[in-house]
Amino acid sequence: MSKLKLPGLIDIHTHMREPGAIHKEDWDSGTSAALAGGFTTIFAMPNTNPAVMDNKTLNLSLKEAENKARCDFAQFIGAGSDNAEKISLLSPKTAGLKMYLDSTYGELQLGDMAQWISHFQYWPKELPIAVHAEGPTMAASILLAHLYDRPIHICHVSRKDEILVIKTAKERGLPVTCEVTPHHLFLTAEDINHLGPGRSEVRPVLASPTDRDALWENMDVIDCFATDHAPHTLQEKDGANPPPGFPGLETALPLLLTAVHEGRLSIDDLINKLHTNPRKIFNLAEQPETFIEIDPDTTWEIRADETFTRCGWTPFEGMQVRGRVFRVVLRNHEVFKDGRISAKPGTGRNLRTQST
Ligand code: NCD
Ligand code: ZN
Ligand code: ZN
Ligand code: ZN
Repeated sequence: MSKLKLPGLIDIHTHMREPGAIHKEDWDSGTSAALAGGFTTIFAMPNTNPAVMDNKTLNLSLKEAENKARCDFAQFIGAGSDNAEKISLLSPKTAGLKMYLDSTYGELQLGDMAQWISHFQYWPKELPIAVHAEGPTMAASILLAHLYDRPIHICHVSRKDEILVIKTAKERGLPVTCEVTPHHLFLTAEDINHLGPGRSEVRPVLASPTDRDALWENMDVIDCFATDHAPHTLQEKDGANPPPGFPGLETALPLLLTAVHEGRLSIDDLINKLHTNPRKIFNLAEQPETFIEIDPDTTWEIRADETFTRCGWTPFEGMQVRGRVFRVVLRNHEVFKDGRISAKPGTGRNLRTQST
C-alpha cells in the first residue's frame, strides 16, 4: 500500500503532569510525544499538582501550555466537592468537565453522590461531562445523565459488562459516548506476568481476555480511542509504591494500524474514533490544513529509547507493529518529519480561545 494522508488525530485523554510532576512529563515533552504519535490535538486531564479546579489553576496550566505546547490543546477542569457552580462559568475555556468517581491517581476522586449531582445540575449541556467511572458507578453516572438530560462521556471503558450497558443505553437513546484505550484492546491480565507487578499497574486494571474480546466485538459501540497517556517514570513504576498509568501517545496509532493491517479494524473506524467523533463530541472546528501522513506498511519494533515522552518506558516494549506516521502538518506548517520534531515550543494553540 502507498502512503496515506489522514486528518490530524485528537487525543481526548492525556496526562501532561505540568504543573507539579515535570520529571514525568511536561507540556513540551508530552506534546512532542503527541506529534510523534500523529496527534495534533490533545486534551489535558486536570489531575496535576495543583489540580485544575478553579480559575487560578486553570490559568496556571494554560499559561504553561501556551508557552510550551508543540501541538494544539484544550484543558479539562476537575470536579471537586464544592466547585460545581463556579467552574460551570469557566466552561468555555475548558475541554470539558472531568469527574473521578473510582480509584485513580491523584487527589480528585469524589466521594458521595451528592457531590456528583451538583455537577450534573450546573455543567452546561453543550459540553460533555467526562467521567472515570467503572462498573456500577458507571451505570449510576449514565442514569444521572439521563435524569438531568445532559450528555456524558465514559472514559477508558475496559470490561464486557460496561460496554454492554453502554450499548443498551445507546439503543435506548441515552446521551452517552465512550472511549477505549489501546492498552485495554491489546493487553490483558495475562500480560501482568511478563510486565511485572509495577509496570502493569493501571486504572482501570488490565482486564480478562473475555473483556478485551467484548471490546473488539462491540467496536460499533466505541465512539473514540483515547490514549490515557499517563506517564510515570520507570523508577517509580519499579519502585515500592508503583503509581498506576501507561504512556500511550506514541504507540496508539501503530498498534491500531497493525489491527487495520490484520483486518480487525477498518481505516474508516480508526479515523472516526481518533478524529471525527472526538471533534463532534467536544465541539471542535475542522482544521483542513492539519493532517498527518502515514506509511501503513513499515514494520518496526516499539522501543522506549526512541520515544519523546519523558517517562522512559512503554508496556509495549519489543512489540512488532506495522504502520508509522512519517509527517505531521499543523495548520499548514510541517511540525514533524521522519522522526524529527520541527515545531517550536509555543506552536500549539488553545483550541478553546478561538471557539465560536
Ligand atoms: C492516570 C494517571 O496516572 O493520572 N492513571 C491511570 O492508571 N489511568 C489516572 C486516571 O486516568 O485515572
Ligand atoms: Zn481514569
Ligand atoms: Zn487518565
Ligand atoms: Zn475531519
